[in-house]
Amino acid sequence: MFITSISSRDTLEKLKGDFKVIDCHFKKFPDGEGYIRFDEKVKNIREILIVQSLHYPQDEHIMQLFFMIDALKELNIEINLLIPYMAYARQDKRFKDWESVSGITLAKIIDGFDLKSKYTVDIHDVKITKSMKGENLSAMPLIAEYLNDLDLKNPVIISPDEGSLDRAKKVADYIDADFDYLEKKRSSGDNVEIKPKDINTKNRDVAIIDDIISTGGTIAKACELLKRDGTSKVVSGATHLLMIGNAEERLIRSGVDNIFGSDSIPSKFSKISIASIIDDVF
Ligand code: R5P
Repeated sequence: MFITSISSRDTLEKLKGDFKVIDCHFKKFPDGEGYIRFDEKVKNIREILIVQSLHYPQDEHIMQLFFMIDALKELNIEINLLIPYMAYARQDKRFKDWESVSGITLAKIIDGFDLKSKYTVDIHDVKITKSMKGENLSAMPLIAEYLNDLDLKNPVIISPDEGSLDRAKKVADYIDADFDYLEKKRSSGDNVEIKPKDINTKNRDVAIIDDIISTGGTIAKACELLKRDGTSKVVSGATHLLMIGNAEERLIRSGVDNIFGSDSIPSKFSKISIASIIDDVF
């Protein structure tokens, strides 16, 4: 399979399968407009896989994707698309009147290109993947494998809220561990406590698993509470590590013993590669 990317080149380098990379060069004009051009090897191919993550600078990566798709379509090449990190996926519904649902807008535009196949990875809400008639893949088995190697003691896999419990359950099933989610409990009048719903994690190791770590606030708060209640070790991971601002410092300060995630967004904590997902699917 021929494969190309601008924003996810690091991931392409980790592929083990029989992929031939077609380079796509990107430059910016002095006025800020982007420009892409494929290597001339593109001229004889019939089908390609674009792997393009849409992390910061999101809008630039999105425009690169559109330019790549259109240039390949002009050459009558069939296109498969894998978006490791889908930008705008947290704007998956209208939270306030008269705002745009940008995740769906982006999905609709992608759907309009009439591609052969479309994939996202651990998208915040699969509604967006469905809007582009695609399929959502999961990095949770890879996260589970990584956790297995950490040799956690009597581990509990915790989801920061009930909404993302499925992800924690998936990881727990792989490594045969317990799982739970954090729940707000009113202990007295004004006092709201956040605790695992059913499981006491005292003297046990915990892995908090989420789809995204952005500012680190969600995980940091969870970790502080778990440690205060006697949890031994807290490791935390997510598929997509945005790591905005002082996220790293905030997580370390909260006592997180290990931060990890995939290379859907490259960072020093990208200890897992989604390349193996690409190897499996294509
Ligand atoms: C939110 O709905 C997501 O699933 C993550 O929990 C959230 O994006 C994490 O954000 P932060 O790291 O800023 O707390």
